Amino acid sequence: MRAGIIGIGSYLPDRVITNTELEKTVDTTNEWIMARTGISTRRTAESHISSSDLGFEAAKIAIENANLEPKDIDMIISVSSSPDYTFPATACIIQDKLKATNAAAFDIQAACTGFVYGLTTAVQYIMSGQFKNILVVGSEVLSKMIDWQDRNTCVLFGDGAGAVVVSQVETGGVISTILGADGSGAKLLEVPAGGSREPASFETVKNRRHYIKMNGNEVFKFAVRVLEDCTRKVVKKANLNLSDIDFIIPHQANIRIIDAALKRLNFPKDRVMINLDKYGNMSSASIPVALHEALHTGRIKKGHKVVLVGFGAGLTWGAVLMDWNL
Ligand code: UT7
Repeated sequence: MRAGIIGIGSYLPDRVITNTELEKTVDTTNEWIMARTGISTRRTAESHISSSDLGFEAAKIAIENANLEPKDIDMIISVSSSPDYTFPATACIIQDKLKATNAAAFDIQAACTGFVYGLTTAVQYIMSGQFKNILVVGSEVLSKMIDWQDRNTCVLFGDGAGAVVVSQVETGGVISTILGADGSGAKLLEVPAGGSREPASFETVKNRRHYIKMNGNEVFKFAVRVLEDCTRKVVKKANLNLSDIDFIIPHQANIRIIDAALKRLNFPKDRVMINLDKYGNMSSASIPVALHEALHTGRIKKGHKVVLVGFGAGLTWGAVLMDWNL
C-alpha cells in the first residue's frame, strides 16, 4: 500500500510585477535581476488578500480534481511561510472557508521546504491508516513580508498557492522521502521581529524588522549543496539510480541555484520544471504550483519517476520521490 497525490490545484493572483516596474522603486535593473536570478515577473495579491484566501482557491481546485467534496477531507496541513496569523493556524481558516467540517487542521513551519515537509507528513498519516484524504496547502502572500525598499530581497519573491490531496493509491505513489534541518543556520534567512524573541514594538517597526532578511550568498551555497545531496539521497533510498528519474521539480528560488545543482548531478535541464521566471520564489507554493504546471503541460505522465526537492529557512531541506500515479 502506498500514498499518492490524487488531486492538485493552484491559484495565482492576477497582478503581475515586472522587473522594469521594480527599477522605479529600488536601485536595480532588469538586466541584474535576469542575470542573477532568472526572474522576469512575479505575482502579487491585492491588499485585502491573505495566504488563506489564495490557499482556499487552490484547495477547492485540488479537491474537485480529486473528485471529492470538502467534507471528505480528514486533515488539512497548511505549510505557509506567510501565515494569516501567528495563531490560529492558517489550516483552520482554510478549513472554515472550505466547510471541510470533518477535517483536523494544523500548520507546519518549514519555510520554502514546507510543501515537502507537509507532503511527507501527510504520507505518514495515510500509511498508518489513520486518515483517508489529506489536503496539503502551500500558499503565500510574501509581498506583505518583503521590505520593498530592500533590493536584496524584494526582487526575489512572489505570491501564489498550490494544493494537493493525498490518499491511498493502488498503483504508483510516494516511494521514498527525506527531511533534514540545521538550525545553526537560522539567522541566514529570517523575519526577526513579531515573535516572542522580538515582539512587535514601535522600534521593531521603525527598524523594519518585520520583513524578510537574508544572507543571500550563504543561502545560495547551502541551496546548491542540499539540492544535489537531497536528490541523490532520496533516489538512493528508493534503491534507484539518477538515470531512473524522469523529472525533477526543484524549489524555484534562483535559476543559478538550479543550474549549479543540475551540473553537479549531471542531470538534463529539459527534464526539470522551471517557472521561476514567471513567478519568482513563492516559498511553500513554488513546488506545488510547478508540479501542477508540469502536469498541465504534459511534462509529467503516469509512471514517471518524479523527484520534488526543496530547501529553505530553518535551515530546512527535503525531497519526495514519487511514481506518478495520475
Ligand atoms: O527560498 C529560499 C531561499 N532563498 C534563496 O535561495 C536565495 C539565495 N540567494 C540568491 O539567490 C542570491 O544570493 C541573490 C540573488 C540573493 C543575490 O545574488 P548574488 O549573485 O549572490 O549577489 P550578491 O549578494 O553577491 O550581490 C552582488 C552585488 C552586491 O553589490 P556589491 O556589494 O558587489 O556592490 C549587491 O548589493 O549585487 C548587489 N545587489 C543588487 N544589485 C542590483 C543585490 N541585489 C541587487 C539588485 N539589483 N536587486
